[in-house]
Amino acid sequence: MAQATKESFEKAKAFNKFDEIYAPVLPGLKDIVMKHQDAITDAFYGALSNDPIAAKIVAGRVDQLKATHKVWMEELFNGTYGDAYFDRRYKIGETHVKAKIAPYFVEVITSFLRRAFAEILIKEDPAALQAALAILDLDALIIVGAYHEDRMRRMSEVTGMNQKLLETLMSFG
Ligand code: HEM
Repeated sequence: MAQATKESFEKAKAFNKFDEIYAPVLPGLKDIVMKHQDAITDAFYGALSNDPIAAKIVAGRVDQLKATHKVWMEELFNGTYGDAYFDRRYKIGETHVKAKIAPYFVEVITSFLRRAFAEILIKEDPAALQAALAILDLDALIIVGAYHEDRMRRMSEVTGMNQKLLETLMSFG
């Protein structure tokens, strides 16, 4: 049931005029950001390896995860953010859910990436930094959405309540 997250993704893009303002800027930033990718990714996994819980999760597969992370970062700057993009990113969210990685870790790493992007792009024009933060936030929205939907599914299984009804009860109207 990626539908709720898909709707949030579409609404967030429309709210921020993402496709008009930010999507066209992003491909032009790929080379600038990717020059720093190794350093960012090393720092990302360095930080995770210093955390006793995260270190156990990534142990023995850091090199493989770094390669995966590089592809993820490149795709941020591909310039098309439609259904196929959403589906790929939602699957990434589901991978973390299935691996039982606490969403807290995804949030702190997203915060880490925001600061890394700011450090690089502050030297460029404001539009560059705004675009990079906009896509990072959309990715975070999708991953966090996958966690939310998993919780709703599990809650539905435990209570026997229909997932749509649960969503309605939890919504603000
Ligand atoms: C914004 C944050 C993050 C991004 C963008 C990201 C990106 C990715 C991507 C693209 C994959 C491959 C997914 C797939 O093949 O379906 C992946 C897998 C994985 N990530 Fe992350 N990741 C993030 C945060 C984290 C954190 C914080 C941890 C650990 C605490 C982590 C640990 C893992 C592990 C263990 C896998 C492999 C899971 C498996 O194959 O069972 N990731 N990540």
